Amino acid sequence: MTILDGKKVSNDIKNEIAAEVQKIKDKGEKVPHLAAIIVGNDGASLTYVGSKVKACERVGFESTLVQMSNTTSEIELLEKIKELNENPEIDGFIVQLPLPPQINEQKVLLAVNPDKDVDGFHPTNFGKMALDMSTFIPATPFGILELLDRYGVETKGKHTVVIGRSHIVGRPMSILMGRKGFPGNSTVTLTHSHTKNITQITSQADIIISALGVPNFLKAEMVKDDAVIVDVGITRVTDETRPRGYRIVGDVDFANVSKKASYITPVPGGVGPMTIAMLLKNTLLARERHTR
Ligand code: GUN
Repeated sequence: MTILDGKKVSNDIKNEIAAEVQKIKDKGEKVPHLAAIIVGNDGASLTYVGSKVKACERVGFESTLVQMSNTTSEIELLEKIKELNENPEIDGFIVQLPLPPQINEQKVLLAVNPDKDVDGFHPTNFGKMALDMSTFIPATPFGILELLDRYGVETKGKHTVVIGRSHIVGRPMSILMGRKGFPGNSTVTLTHSHTKNITQITSQADIIISALGVPNFLKAEMVKDDAVIVDVGITRVTDETRPRGYRIVGDVDFANVSKKASYITPVPGGVGPMTIAMLLKNTLLARERHTR
């Protein structure tokens, strides 16, 4: 069994990006600048956005964090997005999800300039992804592809089962794994809350990508020998023995599933750090597109 070590690979990627930033600086050019908008004070979202900003510092990017209150109106948020769209200093930005209930997420995603949409959530970019056109691939699926690629995990002709059809992970992942090329060329089954007999499906899978958010959902009995397991779950579970009062638990019963798997991502230290590295990669790409 091989651990797909997202912490190590994401560090390699960040070092590669930092080297690119150094070249940009040596030429006296403007370094990439990522902005993030966060609305409200959800603890997990604040942590994720904080990690994104910290990662920018680590590779030498400029970063801007825009914090807006929980009572922000849709119009106020759309105004802020317009500002970032028009600000030539900003190469790319994200609006951290989820948003408070008074704000329509679809309107927000449509308001982001597709050329600055480093999350790849705008329909223009999502459509381009589905049509094999060059675009921003959403960071978590992009990170999973990169991890499979760097470990040389074969995907061609394999049966990939994706669990969960979220717009951020499951849906794009199901498209990407079936695309022509590497990683890709898989036969994909997308499962969700209405799927019947999920064990029958997962036990036929060569590759399982679980993005459900249910701790320890995927048990050893649901997995065949030598399967490749990618765990996207990051649920906070109360744990008074930890300094923070919680620990992060994945979708996969790691202790038992890892005994059968050929490759498996840990939680934490698997997909999570890859997401941040690929957001940085998309921002570097956005800067290249703007300066061309
Ligand atoms: N919330 C959870 N994951 C993501 C992500 O990748 N991007 C944004 N903007 N919000 C998220």
